[in-house]
Amino acid sequence: MPKLSWSDFLARVEAFPTTSIPVAELFRLVRSVEFPRELLESHMQWSPETYQRVPLYRSDRLEALVLCWEDGQATVIHDHGPSCSVAAVTQGLVKVENFRRADRGERPGFARLETTETLTLNPGDVCCSEIGGIHAMGNEQGGRKRLVTVNFYSPPLSRIQTFDRATGAIGEKVYPALLATL
Ligand SMILES: [Fe+2]
Repeated sequence: MPKLSWSDFLARVEAFPTTSIPVAELFRLVRSVEFPRELLESHMQWSPETYQRVPLYRSDRLEALVLCWEDGQATVIHDHGPSCSVAAVTQGLVKVENFRRADRGERPGFARLETTETLTLNPGDVCCSEIGGIHAMGNEQGGRKRLVTVNFYSPPLSRIQTFDRATGAIGEKVYPALLATL
């Protein structure tokens, strides 16, 4: 697929017949988009406290955030509720851990998770998480190197679950409060 401009990308998204874009289709579109440098730079914010989530776009089909990660900053383990997600790396290396539930919900409020894969992605790489997928992302580059990712969700984020890495305790977050734990 030839490269898509940002406006062509959004036009394709908004022409989609349903508000839930299948993850494979969203992956294909995001892999093709050429992010304008000025668009990214105008949406970059940094904090020593935690990685920053800067709203880039939101419609009834898609939510896009620019995530700016200082060295050592990472998400908690989470899913995306009824949304799928696709993330594109535009600067630095991202570590992605994917998990699956190894329990059947026998202990309400808790999950037992198993790591299914751990990936390091480079600038230009794109990864995705299906509806129900559980993952964590972070900047473990060292050397005070920064990371920028552009993360997409379809349909837009509404509610998510978080999973405590030590205890497996499940937390529930709704939009927009969930942005603080994404
Ligand atoms: Fe995520």
